[in-house]
Amino acid sequence: MSSIYYADPAEAETFAASLLVNGGGLPKDQAQLMAKCLVQADLRGVDTHGLARLQQYMARVKDGLVNATPNLKVMEKTPVAAHLDGDNGFGFIVATKAMEDAIRRAETYGIGIVTVNHSNHFGMAATYVQQALKKDMISLVFTNSAKQMPPFGGKETLLGISPFAAGAPSDSEVPFILDMAPSVVAKGKIRKAARRGESIPLGWAYDKDGKPTTDAEAALSGSMAPIGGPKGSGIAILMDIMSGVLGDAEFGGQVGDQYKEARPQNVGHSFIAIKPGVFMDAANFRKRMDTLVQRVHGVTPAEGFDRVLFPGEPEWNLEMKRRREGVPFTDAEKEMFTELSEAFGVKPLRLSTDPLSLEHQQ
Ligand SMILES: NC(=O)c1ccc[n+]([C@@H]2O[C@H](COP(=O)([O-])OP(=O)(O)OC[C@H]3O[C@@H](n4cnc5c(N)ncnc54)[C@H](O)[C@@H]3O)[C@@H](O)[C@H]2O)c1
Repeated sequence: MSSIYYADPAEAETFAASLLVNGGGLPKDQAQLMAKCLVQADLRGVDTHGLARLQQYMARVKDGLVNATPNLKVMEKTPVAAHLDGDNGFGFIVATKAMEDAIRRAETYGIGIVTVNHSNHFGMAATYVQQALKKDMISLVFTNSAKQMPPFGGKETLLGISPFAAGAPSDSEVPFILDMAPSVVAKGKIRKAARRGESIPLGWAYDKDGKPTTDAEAALSGSMAPIGGPKGSGIAILMDIMSGVLGDAEFGGQVGDQYKEARPQNVGHSFIAIKPGVFMDAANFRKRMDTLVQRVHGVTPAEGFDRVLFPGEPEWNLEMKRRREGVPFTDAEKEMFTELSEAFGVKPLRLSTDPLSLEHQQ
């Protein structure tokens, strides 16, 4: 039976940052920023996009497929619009810079949009929504990604499982954070079923002939199903328009696959920040958001539900818990951390078999 090991989030950040400096050649400040983004995903329960991906990112940068020291150039188009060339840097660093620029424009003009090309996988899309929330901004985040899904009615993959994210600040209630991939489930769930020899529910994926399947292995050599048929497929196409087409990055099935291809990904993104204070007093907006949250919470739970939650609330609650107890990792991740720390001369990450008591970090 597999065990669970808990790490202090601050120590996990230091560990990841040291690896990215020693083994990846990233400048210290950029390594710290990327490490923070990864641990943030782990804290919110998006474990598929946290430290579990370190080995893959390290391999890409060591092989020269990602630029450890990108020169990030912002080109202003109008006072509210700019384009950022990511110079093949890690998506986390490129995206944070782009959202920062969109927020700065929105502070002055009420709205800011920044398109991006020559970027890479940027992890959990909510990271950049959270960045905007810290500045009291509404935000919209778009990215594209390597092909894994056919357009509705098609057999071959062409679209990415590209997450759309949006956020809005509240006052004393939870903020709105919608962060959703346009596929029915994440591919990780199918990999897990295949590993365990289990079948998957009909509707999650297609086999290589484009037929719906319950066979996890057949799904792995096939493709993912979009949510709501043409609707999820349409959202995935919108992600490609706002990222690849508008941002002058790759699109339409041409984004590099970081797991399969030894070439830069040229992922595109775009970031929109909107200042609610332009439309009404900012405090009034946040209070009105609180009312919306309370009204959603006030709906009677349907059978099988304890409570009605606001988008982003499950992850918010988990983050509170993990900030107290530490971030849980599996045996496989523990092994990977040991390998990486030995390979790059980094102090091992301290892991405890019991939950921690980190109340002071809340
Ligand atoms: N960078 C990439 O290329 C890439 C690709 C795919 C996924 N991802 C990331 O993977 C993560 C997982 O995506 P997903 O689509 O599987 O997310 P998900 O299905 O777990 O959640 C989708 C949304 O539904 C909300 N939600 C879930 N349960 C809820 C409930 N009971 N009540 C109210 N709201 C609820 C969540 O807060 C979230 O906003 C995201 O962070 C995404 O950004 C990244």
